[in-house]
Amino acid sequence: MLTDTKRLIDLDHAHVWHPFTPMAQWRQGDPLIIEYGEGPCLFDTEGKRYIDGVSSLWCNVHGHNIVQLNQAIQEQLDRVAHTTLLGLASPPSIELAARLCQLVPGALSKVFYSDAGATAVEVALKMAVAYWFHVGQPQKNQFIGFRGGYHGDTTGAMSVGFCEQFHQPFGSMVFPVTQVSAPDACRPPQGMRIVADVGSSVDRCWPSEDQQLAVDLSIACIAELKQVLDTQAHSTAAIIIEPVMQGAAGMICQPRGFVQEVARLARKYDVLLIADEVATGFGRTGKMFACEHETDDSFAGPDIMCLGKGLTGGYLPLAATMATDQIEQAFRGTIEEGKTLFHGHTYTGNALGCAVAMASLELFDQTNLLGHIDQCGQLMRDRLGELGECPGVRDIRQRGLMVGIELSIPNESHKQLNQTGHLGGEVCMAMRSRGLIVRPLGDVVVLMPIPATPQEVLHEMMDVVVDTISQRFAGYG
Ligand SMILES: Cc1ncc(COP(=O)(O)O)c(C=O)c1O
Repeated sequence: MLTDTKRLIDLDHAHVWHPFTPMAQWRQGDPLIIEYGEGPCLFDTEGKRYIDGVSSLWCNVHGHNIVQLNQAIQEQLDRVAHTTLLGLASPPSIELAARLCQLVPGALSKVFYSDAGATAVEVALKMAVAYWFHVGQPQKNQFIGFRGGYHGDTTGAMSVGFCEQFHQPFGSMVFPVTQVSAPDACRPPQGMRIVADVGSSVDRCWPSEDQQLAVDLSIACIAELKQVLDTQAHSTAAIIIEPVMQGAAGMICQPRGFVQEVARLARKYDVLLIADEVATGFGRTGKMFACEHETDDSFAGPDIMCLGKGLTGGYLPLAATMATDQIEQAFRGTIEEGKTLFHGHTYTGNALGCAVAMASLELFDQTNLLGHIDQCGQLMRDRLGELGECPGVRDIRQRGLMVGIELSIPNESHKQLNQTGHLGGEVCMAMRSRGLIVRPLGDVVVLMPIPATPQEVLHEMMDVVVDTISQRFAGYG
């Protein structure tokens, strides 16, 4: 090990508090220190190459160290790095807002900037509550979320994505939110009548595309949401959903048409719909935005949409909360009328972030990235099929380039499958030693390659994934 690596490890252990990381355990090992990146790969301080199989936590889009993106930042830097949007405007924030409004589905025509996915959600929640306040229905100030949903780590975002495992110490800080069941084929809602046999079809199904099960799940979850709305719509500001794929829950796919059913109910009960596309936006699910999978003409799109992560191609922290004209209209008034949205951050609409976001959107067109993603999604689907008979693979879920491989230890008779919560971590570390960086969510191995990954590198990644998982469960026959 080079001396500098050793020095950095010691300093990291002494001073850096890592997110979502059990620190005592972290300090027992040597961290992997990434020094530079090139395209789909990262290189550590020893020069070892790794494929970035999680898009640097679901945000990188075109790869690392991309000339056009570097240039966009440099050109903006030569003008000015940052100016406030409080009382001033800036060319990059204006251009980007106009471009985003052209790009997103539905009638979203207003952009409120912030700097992280969680803040985009926080803004959405405040927008929704203040909207109802200003239109004379202040009692509509509650939220409905989907069980397992994750929306970030600020207090409001935690509240709408409350999870006992992570948030127990914060129970006193969060506000109550009604959670309804999300359509999860491996963990169907309690009491749901399932026509398909979970034991045979879900455990082995590749992927969770059992049509009957999907229909049953959708019907059960929509019925539950409707029941809640029947009694709570009068006090509900908005429903918040991660459309098409609940990411942090373990890549839980929603049956096709589910989002538009939720949207239909929201409209019927006069409740706003917030689409949290922080993870799913910018091509991850195969479309530019996950909401675009819903093709029904009656689907008018969400009222509010949250964007982050891939907005800047994964280069800089920038987020956006987009809203319809109708919502923003409720905030029009003088400061004395108190209709202003009193929210903002120092770096709101940062010029460098907006400039690189514009360059990223241009690259989407120049490289026909959505076409490439389509081919890569198919490639991954084909390669994941090689795990179809692997005894430790409970389920494989995929939408575009978002993949969850749920693992479990088969028991003696191989009839029951045991979840451990640690299998994902064990398998991901084995993959790392073979030059692939991926991160688990409990027993789920998450694959989220950089969308622009060339097909030969994607094959290399899938070789590691298939070999590592097959070898781990080789003994179970
Ligand atoms: C759906 C969703 N919303 C919000 C967030 C929070 O984003 P950030 O980590 O940028 O605050 C995430 C992060 O993973 C996410 O997946």
